[in-house]
Amino acid sequence: MRYAVLTLSDKASRGEREDTAGPAVRAMMDDKAGTCVHASILADDRDQVEEELRRLCDKEHAQIVLTVGGTGFTKRDVAPEAALAVAERQAPGLAEAMRARSLQVTPHAMLSRAVAVIRGESLIVNLPGSRKGAVECLEVILPALPHACALLDGTAGDKDHAPK
Ligand code: MTE
Repeated sequence: MRYAVLTLSDKASRGEREDTAGPAVRAMMDDKAGTCVHASILADDRDQVEEELRRLCDKEHAQIVLTVGGTGFTKRDVAPEAALAVAERQAPGLAEAMRARSLQVTPHAMLSRAVAVIRGESLIVNLPGSRKGAVECLEVILPALPHACALLDGTAGDKDHAPK
């Protein structure tokens, strides 16, 4: 799986806060045989985030793009809007699963507006910005990511689609 991680945080982008969530997400993806094609920290600037999402999908051909942070309610939280702006199709099941499982951990899970969308052969998923939240949410969707990639790039075999 070719993946990219974009941490969205004004403070981390200025070096005023350490990004611990992004590296934790990378470690988990690498552990599942992921290949990181790009990892960076961006300010919570919607235009810039949209541009980077397009580049990662269209030029870097990342199969999975994980954004970290910017899913909450503050005015600078723009991760869902940026993902929806570049989306061709929505993939609501991933965000539904993350929120459902996260609600068993904290009621604050309902404050994440995270979305998952498809652009071309790339899947973009918003994760929350705390290390704990990002790890908990990625754990939920990790088992489905290889098959998601195979469906998107057309390599999933027919048997995978056979009725059970
Ligand atoms: N989901 C899980 N699994 N664990 C968490 O600790 N934190 C929540 C929520 N989702 C959390 C979580 C909190 S406190 C907020 S405000 C929202 O994610 C949005 O976080 P973000 O703005 O950093 O993206």
